Formats: sequence, structure tokens, C-alpha cells
Amino acid sequence: MRVLGIETSCDETGVAVYCTKRGLLAHALFSQVAMHAAYGGVVPELASRDHVRKLLPLIRQVLDEAGMRPADLDGIAYTRGPGLVGALLVGGSVASGLGYALGLPVIGVHHMEAHLLAPMLEEAQPEFPFVALLVSGGHTMLVQVAGIGRYRLLGQSLDDAAGEAFDKTAKLLQLPYPGGPALEKLAAEGNPGRYRFPRPMTDRPGLDFSFSGLKTFTRNMVQAERGDSRTRADIARAFQDAVVDTLAIKCRRALEQTGVGGLVVSGGVGANRALRARLQEVAAEQGARVYYPRLELCTDNGAMVALAGALRLQAGERQEGNGFDAVARWPLDSLRPPGEPTPSRRVS
Ligand code: KG4
Ligand code: ZN
Repeated sequence: MRVLGIETSCDETGVAVYCTKRGLLAHALFSQVAMHAAYGGVVPELASRDHVRKLLPLIRQVLDEAGMRPADLDGIAYTRGPGLVGALLVGGSVASGLGYALGLPVIGVHHMEAHLLAPMLEEAQPEFPFVALLVSGGHTMLVQVAGIGRYRLLGQSLDDAAGEAFDKTAKLLQLPYPGGPALEKLAAEGNPGRYRFPRPMTDRPGLDFSFSGLKTFTRNMVQAERGDSRTRADIARAFQDAVVDTLAIKCRRALEQTGVGGLVVSGGVGANRALRARLQEVAAEQGARVYYPRLELCTDNGAMVALAGALRLQAGERQEGNGFDAVARWPLDSLRPPGEPTPSRRVS
């Protein structure tokens, strides 16, 4: 089954074709980063308009690269939520229009389920059950995964998501948007011993996170210290070490509690090399294996949407009629295994 995947939940237009037999056939991404950088963050209306401009050319490009015509597709998947509603509607309407025109089944995919399943695009495939650490700009979650659509939330951020903390801290350090990659680069030049930031919520049991205090800690430190470039690098290093350490402590706890043998790490912050290296150590200590998507598939992309959609379309799941919707908020643990009806289709 060959499925076209469309991702437009935020500031990246992602398109891919995934084949259930041959794997990823082609994928392409257009990042709006340069456009939003001038505003220091994503401007939702500009995001929607740019998805309108870029989506159809990207679909043509990806089909060309896969050596396919639209009629060769067997299904279409788009990100239904969570995300920016205006941006989501672009993907939903193009997917549903194409599906109607071509007589193909269409499915709306959960963005975080797509991140969670993204390592299945790689050769080393995680086996169920596993624990997933999902760390993106909008979410920080530890999830126990018994199978596709069988998700138990073990813990989540009570305030800022890990990526959001990276972005806000980067802003305080006068780094360009998006902050995560820029902060990682600056941190690599920093001295690890100069400052020590707290590891929030690690001194008590439980698997929830809180990252907003770290941002305040950074603000106070930037104000107290002279902002020369060495100091900024040292602060970036201390912040990154604190986030990585906190995530690692909770992952170790989740592996201990569940006794599973696999840890999946996905979402934009999963592209952070310091985090990847640290989680590799934690998993090894627990006798577990860690699975990541390749760097470019950690951040938003169409390939993960095509894969998640294909797994559900294959089980006969599909959008009813030609109606589609976009959902800003959509709890991951409300999902069901492929083909099983959800208790209520409208979720927000
Ligand atoms: O998954 P994603 O592409 O989009 C959402 O679904 O949110 O994640 C984007 C987030 C941003 O906050 C970005 O700063 C962060 O992931 N990020 C990173 C890195 N690359 C992206 N954070 C830390 N280190 C990185 N290398
Ligand atoms: Zn994402």
C-alpha cells in the first residue's frame, strides 16, 4: 500500500510517500523558519498561508521523486491535530480534496502518534512494548506503548514543553528562532562546570516534568552576569545539561517502573545530540535499547504521517465521507488500535 503523507501542523510543510512493502519512497520538507524568524516565533496566519503556497508543489515533487502518478497512490494521510488549526486545515483540505478526486481512502493522523512511530521508518525497529519519550515544541511526554494505538501516559510537562523551554531560553540568550538547534550549538562551546541549574521535579517520585523554572533561572542569571559570549555559552551549556539530565533521570525511572526493553525517543528535541548520547547511556545501564528516527525525521516531517496513516488505513480505518476537521487539542491516550472505533469521533 502506497500512502501520501501530509504534515502542516505548525511551521513545516512536509510531504512523503511511504510504501508498506518497500518503506519510504520519497520525502520533502519546506521549513518556514526564515519567514517566522523576523517575528521571533511562529505567526499562525503566515504559517497557514505559506502551507497553501508550498503544499501542492511539494506533492508534485515527491510524486516525481517516487516515480509515481497520483493514480498510483492507495491512500492519503494528513495531520489532523494537535497543532495550529489554520495550518492543519490546509493539509486536511488538500488531502480530502485529492482523496475525493482520486477515489482514495483518507485518514487524519495524530501528530504525536506519528512522532512516536517514526523510528519504524528505520531499519532497527522497536518491538512492543516500549517506553516513548516524546519531546517537541508543544509536548513533553513519557508514554508506555503496548502496541499501535495502545498508549498509557506515564508523565508529561505541567508547564513548558522541553522544546518550548529551549526556544524561550535561546531568546533570552539572544539566539535566533528556532532556539533549539542554535542553543545546542552555543552549548557545545560552553564550560560544563561554571554554572549548575536545578533538575526540576527529580527529587520526588513520579514522571511529570516542569521546565518553566529553568527559563526563569536563565533570565536571572543573564541579568546577574555580564553577557559576554563566553558567559552566554556557559549558561547555554548549564541549561542544556539540566534539561538532558532531567529527561534522562525520568527515562531511567520509566524503564525501571515498566521493565520494558526499549526506549523510543522522538520529536524535535530528540534531534539534540547531547540528549541522544545521554539516553544511550541510560538505556544501556538498564539493559534496554534506544531507538531514534534519523535526525531529519525527529523534527516535523511528512514521512511519519504517511507511516502512521498507512498502519491505520491498512486496518481499514478511514475518514467518513468527505468531511474533515482539524483539532487543536487531542489527547494521545484517547487513541485506539487501528481499525477499532474511537468512543467519540469529535474530540474538541
Ligand atoms: O517536533 P517539532 O519539529 O515540532 C513540534 O511538533 O513542536 O519540534 C520542534 C521543537 C522546537 O522547540 C525546537 O527548538 C526543538 O524542537 N529542537 C531542538 C533541536 N532541534 C529542534 N531542541 C534542542 N536541540 C535540538 N537540536
Ligand atoms: Zn512535531
